[in-house]
This record gives sequence, C-alpha cells and structure tokens, in this order.
Amino acid sequence: MSVLVTGGAGYIGSHTVRHLRSLGHDVVVLDNLDMGFAGAVLDAPLIVGDVADEALVGRICAEHGVTSAIHFAAHKNVGESMAAPSKYWHNNVDGTVHLVDALLAAGVQDLVFSSSCSVYGTPAIIPVTEAAPIQPESVYAESKATTERILRWYEQTHGLRSVSLRYFNAAGASADSRIGEDWAESLNLVPIAMKATLGRRGPLLVFGDDYPTPDGTCIRDYIHVDDLAVAHVRALDYLAEGKPSTALNVGTGTGSSVMEVIACTARISGLPVPYEITPRRAGDPVSVYADPTLVRETLGWEATMGLEEIISSAYAWHSTHLEGYGD
Ligand code: WQD
Repeated sequence: MSVLVTGGAGYIGSHTVRHLRSLGHDVVVLDNLDMGFAGAVLDAPLIVGDVADEALVGRICAEHGVTSAIHFAAHKNVGESMAAPSKYWHNNVDGTVHLVDALLAAGVQDLVFSSSCSVYGTPAIIPVTEAAPIQPESVYAESKATTERILRWYEQTHGLRSVSLRYFNAAGASADSRIGEDWAESLNLVPIAMKATLGRRGPLLVFGDDYPTPDGTCIRDYIHVDDLAVAHVRALDYLAEGKPSTALNVGTGTGSSVMEVIACTARISGLPVPYEITPRRAGDPVSVYADPTLVRETLGWEATMGLEEIISSAYAWHSTHLEGYGD
C-alpha cells in the first residue's frame, strides 16, 4: 500500500505512520503543522500544507502512487469548538470535503477517518456500542458526526469506501519514547497529570469527586496510542479486501477513574501527583467506556495494553522530553 496520512505529524497520526512503515508500507504525510511537529514524523516524507488544497493533494497522490488515505487532520479542542465554531466547520468538515474530492479525482477510494466517541455525547447505556444514539454535545463532536455522514453520502454518489474509527481516550507514547504527545497543546488528563508530577505546572485540578462512581471521579476508556495505530492499519487492510464502509468504537472496554490514573502515575513515577479537587467540569459524562465487540469481529483487533502500559510509556516519554518536540 501507498498511504497518504493527513495530520501524520500529530499525536495519533505519527504513531500510525510509524506502524505503517514498520510493516513496510509506503507513507506520505500531509500536515500544516498547526498542531503537529515535524520531529514526530519518522521515516516518511512530510509535505507541509493544507488538506483543503485540492491541487496539492492531487499532486501528492500522483507523485507517491497513493492507493489509500488516513485522515487525522482536524482541530480537536472541545472548549475551543464552542468559542470558535466556524474554525471547526471550515477545517474539520469543509476541509474533509475538499480532501475527498481530491482523493476521488486521483482514483483513491479507500479512506480511514479519525472520528470520536464524543459523537455519542453522554451515552445512556454503558458500555457504549455502535447502536448508541448519535447525539453530539459540542461543535467538535458534531463536526465528527457530520463528517461521518458526508463520507457515507460520498459512498452513494462516488463509491468512496470508509471506516470511521470512534476513538475513546487516546493516551500513552511509543515504547522506545521516540515519539509521544506534546503536552504544550493538550488539555487531556494523562499529559496534564504528567506535567503536574514532573513539576512543570501547578497541581492537577480534578474536575469533581462527587460523581456516583466507586471513588467519586469520572470514568473513561483510556486506550494506548500504539493500539490505536494498529486499528488504523487493520481498517486499511479491511478496505483493501473490498469490505463495506462502517463505523467502529475503538476502546479497550475497560473504564478507569481519574483517581486510578493518579494512583497509577504515582506508583510508576515514584513521585507524588500534586492535585486539588475542584467543582465538576460542565459536560463531563460520569462514565464512558466502549463495548469493543464490533471492532473485534470486524477488524480482528483488540487492545493489547492497559492503564499500566499507558502510564509507564507516557511517563517515560514526558520525563525525557520536558519540552515535548521542542527539546
Ligand atoms: C478525561 C477525564 C475529566 C483534565 C476526550 C476528548 C474527546 C474524545 C475522548 C477524541 C474526565 C478529567 C481532565 C483535567 C480532570 N477523544 N480531567 N482534570 O473529556 O474524556 O474527552 O477524549 O476525540 O474528544 O475531548 O478527556 O482528558 O479531557 O478528561 O479531572 O485537568 O479526566 O473530567 O473525567 P474527555 P479529558
């Protein structure tokens, strides 16, 4: 395969690029470096540009003999999406339409799309299956749900085939600490907990400990970024076999609370994790974790790592890259 990876200089994209290359696939990365880092792209050409630039995408596909694509490039900050919605409609939705038009013009019809469990909003039933109602609660989540639907229309009108992967909480870093999540931009729990533990910021603010859970803090499905990378390649293989379009929950099926993440971080680092309990964050569901039955049956994929590997790989990366890719 020759794979175009948009957003391949980003967190999940860079780990997926590395996995594709480890399997001997040709890869070309398109990233505008708005949130990505050139240093995260290992062993693949990086072209700096925008997915909405149809002429550029066409040239890349022709020059690299692209046969399929994985589309990571998107804005992903839930709070920002509510303050600046147009940025998300233009970049996440319209950008994808331009990308798909250029791919189809170049004869590329297999696309794996980076979607999100946030399309489910606050699920009524846990664990979450793909039968759960699509009820986004943010512009970011809506941009993902809308893009999924647009891709299904492109299947009807142009024969595009896609797999939308609905990630749960991606975390962790590569086992050799060569790539990881740059915490400069991240508001997610694990990198923030690492930053607090390593004394690079004030205490971790725990958004509420009065939830109806065993320790009072919210529960999420943390999935190792390298397990996530494997799921993307399995999805490409699935499409290469001519299988039909689908959307799949990609999670471990296990929930971990905020306090469990804190305890695991303290145990692995050997350091205290400074934290303070603060009021709940608006919009936080009490507990969200995946039912990974369909992704296992469809792609033959399941997570191989749990919270221990996530936290130990994240700590190994952050403690040796205090400035992220700026080191
Ligand atoms: C996790 C838990 C917080 C920060 C994200 C993305 C979403 C989707 C899933 C990809 C929650 C708590 C966090 C902090 C805290 N992924 N927390 N203090 O909100 O589950 O969703 O992953 O698309 O799009 O937004 O992730 O890391 O923000 O929060 O207490 O400083 O940690 O309340 O329970 P979330 P998160």
